[in-house]
Amino acid sequence: MQTELGKENLTNETILEQLNWRYATKSYDKTKKISNEDWETLETALTLAPSSFGIQPYKFLVITDPDLREKLKPAAYGQSPITDASHLVVFAYKKTLTDADIEHFVDRIVEVRGTPREALTEYENIMKGSAKQAVDGGYIEIWNSRQAYIALGFLLETAALLGLDATPMEGFDAAQFNEILGLTEYSAVALAAVGYRDAANDWLAPLAKVRMPNAELIERL
Ligand SMILES: Cc1cc2nc3c(=O)[nH]c(=O)nc-3n(C[C@H](O)[C@H](O)[C@H](O)COP(=O)(O)O)c2cc1C
Repeated sequence: MQTELGKENLTNETILEQLNWRYATKSYDKTKKISNEDWETLETALTLAPSSFGIQPYKFLVITDPDLREKLKPAAYGQSPITDASHLVVFAYKKTLTDADIEHFVDRIVEVRGTPREALTEYENIMKGSAKQAVDGGYIEIWNSRQAYIALGFLLETAALLGLDATPMEGFDAAQFNEILGLTEYSAVALAAVGYRDAANDWLAPLAKVRMPNAELIERL
């Protein structure tokens, strides 16, 4: 339920204004850095994203080290947001899902909610069954990577509401990213650069947002 404070500050108009304001920024102002307060909000938004069963089979690598970002840039076809935005987030999904992963998650439920472990046995078995089915069926990587995209969506929306620019990116070589970042159990699947637009030097900044008409996308039944 929306809090009173939220209702005052976050009107329907504000939300739509910010979502229209955001765009996949191509050019960032290198000199502008996101405040700690805003960054913490974005990180928390990432962790609050929903995932199937709540397992969160992913990691978010927040990269601010300029040398590391220079190294990654060629593996993202030289896209300038990789080095120029204030922050770079690599979304990496877990390449498998084991019984141990499920048990780790159940341990966390027990820790947070104080639920007796025995009360969760049936739920645990359902999750283990789903994970096994996905591993045996060869679709675990698809399943887990989909979860990571939900977090990407949360980041993009939250950034827009905070007045921060962000660029979602799939234009990179995952194998090269994994090697540079030392990822083995996880694999990079998407990126987000976040920072402040350099509108004067961004060809996309003045162009109208292109979207299909609502009627083509939304079917009301
Ligand atoms: C999954 C995904 C991957 C994308 N990859 C890139 C990319 O590699 N480089 C880039 O400049 N934009 C990338 N984009 C941005 C899209 O081109 C952009 O979101 C789309 O054209 C809609 O425009 P808007 O975001 O400015 O409204 C990507 C967007 C998504 C959602």
